[in-house]
Amino acid sequence: MASDTHPDVFQEIEHLRKERRAVILAHYYQEPDIQDLADYIGDSLQLAREAQKTDAEVIVFCGVHFMAETAKILNPDKVVLLPDLQAGCSLDESCPPQQLEIFKQKYPDHKVISYVNCSAAVKALSDLICTSANALRMVESFPPEQPLIFCPDKNLGAYVNKQTGRNMVLWPGTCFVHETFSEKKLLELKLRHPGAMVVAHPECQERLLRHAHHIGSTSSLLKYCIASDASTFIVATEPGLIHQMEKAAPHKTFLALPGTDESCACNECTYMRLNTPEKIAAALRDLQPQIHVDEATRTAALVPLQRMMDLS
Ligand code: 13P
Ligand code: SF4
Repeated sequence: MASDTHPDVFQEIEHLRKERRAVILAHYYQEPDIQDLADYIGDSLQLAREAQKTDAEVIVFCGVHFMAETAKILNPDKVVLLPDLQAGCSLDESCPPQQLEIFKQKYPDHKVISYVNCSAAVKALSDLICTSANALRMVESFPPEQPLIFCPDKNLGAYVNKQTGRNMVLWPGTCFVHETFSEKKLLELKLRHPGAMVVAHPECQERLLRHAHHIGSTSSLLKYCIASDASTFIVATEPGLIHQMEKAAPHKTFLALPGTDESCACNECTYMRLNTPEKIAAALRDLQPQIHVDEATRTAALVPLQRMMDLS
């Protein structure tokens, strides 16, 4: 599909990224134009790693707030820009730090493992951070007898409980995108495409995950589809990822699983899609909007985050 963006905008980004000594990081759920102009594309863990090792002076984070905030926690001296500050995340919103603090008091013997999709203040209350790419490994880094609270994604937490045989207490948060996927639509697609493989992100509900041939982070789903001998895939995650799947395997067919209501684009993350090339150009021009994290929260959040980086 042709881009809606005027070519001058891409030229301006090209010019400004050099002038500002900026690196542009993009998550797989960004619109294709943004993926194509980025220096690095990846899942949450890969982007955190890129943010940690970059020698650029400015990081333009094309993703959502918690991802840019993670980059800032790791790089307090760099300018971190999020093209649209409204780009939030329903999992982050589901877990206000004050409520987590009260919740923790009910479980004084438990340690807290938090999915990276949460605020710096929630990270600061956690013992370890994980992403979808390393959740199993991070949970298993605790001795089996150590009781755990997993927050904020109850679907990822339930998946990890099932895989590890643990009984973690789950915070009741969900991703509004992965919650909308319909099992009925999945079964219909499977009937229409009998040889298709189903790949699913662990933020999906168990009733979807049980149909999946492969469950993993966005980068893991991409890798699986590229390596598989199958020619058709039903993709149960945000459809932005299909752009990289189609680029890497143009001869294969990738079917985006629709949400319950097929007439809307509700399988797209409206937060992720707030970023646009125009907003990236403006962010580079004005060095705004910037991410700020107060130093006490940042240093407290860095401890469980760095622990994850060291363990993964
Ligand atoms: P990944 O870490 O797998 O890229 O997932 C991030 C996310 O927000 C999924 O909804
Ligand atoms: Fe958050 Fe869901 Fe969007 Fe991922 S897809 S950023 S979990 S709202």
